[in-house]
Amino acid sequence: MKEVKVFAPASVANLAVGYDILGLALDSPGDEVVVREGSVPGITISKITGDKGLLPTDPIKNTASFAALQLLKHLGKEDLPIEMEIHKKMAMGTGLGSSAASSVAGVYAVNAYLGHPLTKAQILKFSVEGEQKADGAYHADNVAPSLLGGIILIRSNTDLDIIQLPIPKGLYIAMIYPHIEILTSESRSILSDKVGLDDFIGQTGNIAAFVASLYNADLDLMSRSLNDLVIEPQRAKLIPEFYALKEIALFNQAIGFSISGAGPSMFALCKDEAIANTIVAKSKQHLNNTGIDADCFVSKINTEGAVQLY
Ligand code: HSE
Repeated sequence: MKEVKVFAPASVANLAVGYDILGLALDSPGDEVVVREGSVPGITISKITGDKGLLPTDPIKNTASFAALQLLKHLGKEDLPIEMEIHKKMAMGTGLGSSAASSVAGVYAVNAYLGHPLTKAQILKFSVEGEQKADGAYHADNVAPSLLGGIILIRSNTDLDIIQLPIPKGLYIAMIYPHIEILTSESRSILSDKVGLDDFIGQTGNIAAFVASLYNADLDLMSRSLNDLVIEPQRAKLIPEFYALKEIALFNQAIGFSISGAGPSMFALCKDEAIANTIVAKSKQHLNNTGIDADCFVSKINTEGAVQLY
């Protein structure tokens, strides 16, 4: 029987200065979805692993199947019998783009099962609709990098007008995931909808300069630019030891450090692997000393995005 399996990677959204409009893909972790012929019309979920029983198996409520259903509807094939297995490799509410990875994997798996009738660019919309199911907001800063790979700038979430940015050689990411759950919806709800003019000017300068630093591979400019004046100061209080960990990362030569997506994960952008390893080791030690469980790991930037494994 025909069966396909796909992988869609975790991602770091916002990248400090680009709330809802910047994101990058990690090499791992990532979610896997298997799709094969089903026995009844429509999508059914036959198995979910790694979710501690928390995710819905109703295909209308589950992010991965809901997203895939939007693709099938678009193709006029919503009655096609399809069985889906979802293998979660990261917890929800981590700031690693868990729901985005599931949504991307669901759509990409069904598109692959059908022989890739649409391109990745064409299925982006359905993946974003799937993620919207999880956090209620329509933004592609996790979904687009998970699907397409690389570092993505979104000019408009409404139009899904996205730009793939260049990646300077040698960059590594140190990821720190303290084991607390922050729901994206909660982390969004605490944000003020007002931004002062000085912060607006500062943040606009920072994001423009960050993009320029990628084009010019200018790591000093990148370092000066990764300074979030708007979102990080409001969300840092949700994350224990945030400022201590930031100090550790910057002292150990991180290019920049901030919250990954809606948190609680944090990321340090590093110019080489050795620096990323040092930051991971020192952060882990600090969190151990303060009694906070955490997963800390190093990743490169994933340039492929979602892939078909077989
Ligand atoms: N840009 C989003 C946020 C990413 O920070 O809320 C998490 O979904």
